[in-house]
Amino acid sequence: LAPLATPAAAQQFPGRTITVIVPFAAGGPTDTVARLVAESMGRDLGQTIVVENAGGAGGTIGSQRVASARPDGYTLLLHHIGMATTPSLYRRLAYDPVGGFEPVGLITEVPMTLVAKKDFPANTLAEAVAVIRRDRDTLNYANAGIGAASHLCGLLLMKAVDAPMTTVPFRGTGPAIQEILTGRIDLMCDQTTNTTEQINSGALKVFSVTTEARIPALPNVPTSAEAGLPAFQVSVWHGLYAPKGTPAAVTQRLSQALQVALRDPKLVARFADLGTVPVPQAQATPEAHRAFWMADIAKWKPIIQAAGQYAD
Ligand code: MLT
Repeated sequence: LAPLATPAAAQQFPGRTITVIVPFAAGGPTDTVARLVAESMGRDLGQTIVVENAGGAGGTIGSQRVASARPDGYTLLLHHIGMATTPSLYRRLAYDPVGGFEPVGLITEVPMTLVAKKDFPANTLAEAVAVIRRDRDTLNYANAGIGAASHLCGLLLMKAVDAPMTTVPFRGTGPAIQEILTGRIDLMCDQTTNTTEQINSGALKVFSVTTEARIPALPNVPTSAEAGLPAFQVSVWHGLYAPKGTPAAVTQRLSQALQVALRDPKLVARFADLGTVPVPQAQATPEAHRAFWMADIAKWKPIIQAAGQYAD
């Protein structure tokens, strides 16, 4: 078969401003990753990349917008592990959460931290677990809706401690963390991109980092396993997506720019401060992204089915 000719528009891509939709509120971890990546990718592409926040419903509102956008590379989605959990969590969606997108490349891997308001009556994970079990009916746990990383992490925590808590959904953990800082919310599990600075300044209490090993940005914070809860482990990944049908020449060009961005010393240094790890260059490609994404969908499906919590 003769290869399909690349449309002229794809060859000249990009000829104007690109919009990256973040399916969570401004000021949160996905937004932070997107703004750093967009600035750096825009330099390589010679165009401005605008980040737009379309939060709500655990990331599905913003995702739907991109799935139904023109497949020309000018409207993209930057989303996280929710792309692997949403297909199992949501029984009804107005878009195809897998087939509606072309992966462009993986971006980061991000640990999560269990944090609490400053005057939460515990100083270690073991003490926090005892408080959660004792006060489960009055404690508030924040998340960014069903499908958010904070939701997933909360499910794992509540399963590990065998104590459900009242969950309060926000459009993103950016606004949610403000409520913890004011003390109106008790607890949240959130990405280090959003918690590292508040932990280091003492504005938040932290009980564990949800990775196998301690992380350089928070060297004094124990892992969940060290703190006695080995099942409480999860790491968040981010990827960039274009709508289904976007020409391969366009996704390849975007992937190249993403690879350049992930080596940008300014971005790498800022990510390191926030405990956020850029993926190796070979992972920032459509092929590697698709393989990882499909494997993660398969990994989470039985876990979500066992938890039995779905969104309708
Ligand atoms: C956000 O950017 O607000 C988060 O990624 C939300 C989450 O998934 O917990």
